[in-house]
Amino acid sequence: MRRFTFFLVAVATAGLAVLIGPARGHADGQSAPYVTDIPNGYRDWQWISSAHEAGNLNSLGAVLGNDVAIRAFRAGKLPFPDGTIIAALHYRNVPSEENNKVFGQAQSFVPGAPTNIQFMVKDSTKYAATGGWGFGHFADGKPGDATFMKSCFPCHEKAKGSDLVFTRYAP
Ligand code: HEC
Repeated sequence: MRRFTFFLVAVATAGLAVLIGPARGHADGQSAPYVTDIPNGYRDWQWISSAHEAGNLNSLGAVLGNDVAIRAFRAGKLPFPDGTIIAALHYRNVPSEENNKVFGQAQSFVPGAPTNIQFMVKDSTKYAATGGWGFGHFADGKPGDATFMKSCFPCHEKAKGSDLVFTRYAP
């Protein structure tokens, strides 16, 4: 009898471990899924806004959205519906000698070499562990590794009031 009880407890514990195991992993971002394939057609999407980061990043970025994203931005709809994809195309921010010559002084900056493309894909089931957003980062077409991808969600969580999205729609 005692042995049987032990057996039952062992089975129940193993079952519980299986049940809560993956959930635990997600809670601290350990095994949270992220975007590993570049979404199709992103270069044809519509412009939401642009952002320039100075300092070490020295980047010029264009933020684009698929149809679902554009509709939600224009309607001011929060949270963003499943199917929303936002792309951030980043380039080096470089002076344009060509343009500066025309202006007669150094004042013009344009996108230089591409540095990376980042995505936020809304799927509240698949990416539940990271606020319903799947984060993607691609440099030379290759996805960021799991350790690097852990950095996205904690910072984007600071934009909780706008469903983790920082960029505002530029009219
Ligand atoms: C230290 C904070 C921080 C981290 C870490 C961070 N981001 Fe962002 N992200 C921002 C801010 C602020 C903006 C808006 C300004 C800009 O676009 O430069 C932004 C913009 C974006 C956008 C455009 C949509 C939006 O929210 O405005 C995407 C897509 C994006 N980030 C993806 C990522 C991915 C993928 C990672 C992880 C590899 C990441 N971010 C890491 C702060 C962060």
